[in-house]
Amino acid sequence: MTWIIEQHRTWAEWAAIRVLKVGPIPRHLAVIMDGNRRFARKEQKDTLTGHKQGFHKLTEMLCWCRDLGINEVTAYAFSIENFKRSKHEVNGLMDLAAEKFAKLLEEKDKLAKHGVCIRVLGDLTLLPSVIRKLAAEAILATRHNDKCFLNLALAYTSRAEITSAMNDLQEGVKERKIETNDISEELLERCLYTHGSRDPDLLVRTSGEVRLSDFLLWQSGFSCLFFTKVLWPEFTIWHLFGAVFYYQRHYHTLAEARKKTVSQREHAVDESDIERCRLMYGDKVSQEQINAYARGRKERVNNFLNDLYENRINFYGNIVNEKTLS
Ligand code: FPP
Ligand code: MG
Repeated sequence: MTWIIEQHRTWAEWAAIRVLKVGPIPRHLAVIMDGNRRFARKEQKDTLTGHKQGFHKLTEMLCWCRDLGINEVTAYAFSIENFKRSKHEVNGLMDLAAEKFAKLLEEKDKLAKHGVCIRVLGDLTLLPSVIRKLAAEAILATRHNDKCFLNLALAYTSRAEITSAMNDLQEGVKERKIETNDISEELLERCLYTHGSRDPDLLVRTSGEVRLSDFLLWQSGFSCLFFTKVLWPEFTIWHLFGAVFYYQRHYHTLAEARKKTVSQREHAVDESDIERCRLMYGDKVSQEQINAYARGRKERVNNFLNDLYENRINFYGNIVNEKTLS
C-alpha cells in the first residue's frame, strides 16, 4: 500500500469541492483516527486488519485533502498510552509502522515531486530502534519539501510534548542561553514538536468519542472541533466535506477568537519587556532603552531556538547512524 494514491473523483465530488472552495478551506487538518478495532470486530476481522484499513484510509484522506486544498494534516497514529495495549497489538502496530516507513523511503522521489514533507511528532526514544531509524530517515529525506505537510503523532501525548518543551527551556536557562524572563507563551510554543506549523484549523475525531485524548491540547485551543460517529476505516470523502462545511459555518467566530489571542499575546510580551526595563533602569526608563532590551531579548531567543532546532536535526542524524538493535 503506497502513501501517494491517485483517485478518480466523481462529478458530484468535484461539484461539492467547487462549492466548498467558495468558502474558507482549513489549511491545517488534525485527525484522531479512532474506531479501527470496532470496525475490525464488526467485520469479524482481526484487530490488525482494522489498523491496516485505518492506514489505507489515511492515505485516501491525504488525497482528498490535496483535492480540497488542505496542505497540512496531523494524524494521531500512536499515543504513549497505546503502549499499554496487548503485546500482540503493539507489536503489530509497530510492524505496520516499520513497513509503511520503509515504503515511504522507497517513494522518496514521488514525495519530492509532490513536495510532501513528513514530520514525526513524539518521543522517538520510546519507539523500537528499527522504527526510530526509519522515521528519522523519513524526516531528514523530506525535510526540504514544502508544498504539503504530513505530521504523524507517534509515541505522542500533549503532556509529554509540553513537558519536553519545558525541559528545553529549563536547559536554555541553565546554559545561560536565555533568561527566565524571556519565557513566554510564544517561546514555549516554538519549543513544541509542532513548531513551524500553524495551529490546526479543524480537528476531526471519528468513532463517536468526544474527547481529545491528550492530542494537540496546546495547539487546538482555537480549532474547530468536529466529532463524528463513523468509525475511521469507514470515513468517506463526504464525511470530510461535512466537517469542512461545519468549519465554514463556525469560521468567523473562530477567526475572531484567534485574532484576539494573538494580539493579547503580543501585548503581554511588550508589557513584560517594559516591566523588566523598569526593574533595571527605574521608573524613568526611556523608549530607546525598552527597544534595546527587546532587540537583545529577540536575539537571545533566536540564537537559543536556532541551537535547539540544530540539535534536533543532529539528533535525527545520530539516530540514522545508530546500530539497529530491535
Ligand atoms: C485508534 O483506533 C487507532 C489507533 C490507536 C492506531 C491508528 C494507526 C493507524 C491508522 C496506522 C498508522 C500508520 C503509521 C504508518 C504510523 P482504536 O484501536 O482505538 O479502535 P477502537 O476505538 O475501536 O478500539
Ligand atoms: Mg479507540
